[in-house]
Amino acid sequence: MKVTVVFGSPRKKGNTASLLIPFMDELKSRGAEIDYYDVYERNISGCRACLQCQKDKSRAYCVVEDDMQPVISSVSQSEILVIAAPIYCWGLPGPVKTVLDRFIYAFCKYYGDDPFGPALLKGKKLAFITTCGYPVEKGADICEESLKRTAKHCKLEYAGMLAERQRNLKEAFMNEEKEQHARAFAASLL
Ligand SMILES: Cc1cc2nc3c(=O)[nH]c(=O)nc-3n(C[C@H](O)[C@H](O)[C@H](O)COP(=O)(O)O)c2cc1C
Repeated sequence: MKVTVVFGSPRKKGNTASLLIPFMDELKSRGAEIDYYDVYERNISGCRACLQCQKDKSRAYCVVEDDMQPVISSVSQSEILVIAAPIYCWGLPGPVKTVLDRFIYAFCKYYGDDPFGPALLKGKKLAFITTCGYPVEKGADICEESLKRTAKHCKLEYAGMLAERQRNLKEAFMNEEKEQHARAFAASLL
């Protein structure tokens, strides 16, 4: 099974990255093949709403030639898309939101001349891994809701959220319990 992980935190060894280590280790130990993209290390610009992606309904593509191209092609071949990012202002960090904007048009062919065009993400799963400062139910709830609606709109199966909180920056984030949560979440996706 192929999995695309879109990682979006500027902190390479931060909280979200720490959760991803056991998560991806568990996926690999269960035979998954992972494509990993750190969007803060890529040059990905915003969707231009040019609708060129709507002309050919048989494949996902974007005419903007930047570092989004391999991400689109990876997701086309994957069964699971994982968005792994911290909560910023009750949403996704800007570079991650930009990736989602590009996905939605590249894969959903209902913005052009045919409102009933194909949903090329149909049948794939979307999973969300996040960390936040507030309690999860007040920190990650709005962002999860927007991802659920995105999934529904794109005909993706929403496979759930792994969310963990860091109460304050002085306390260590990772512990055995969080590692177990990350491993169990990975196992639940396969
Ligand atoms: C710019 C910025 C905005 C943030 N906004 C929120 C927020 O709206 N709600 C929240 O619960 N935490 C917020 N946080 C806290 C982060 O989500 C939290 O510290 C997270 O674990 C950081 O993850 P990272 O170490 O992977 O970057 C914010 C942090 C930053 C830097």
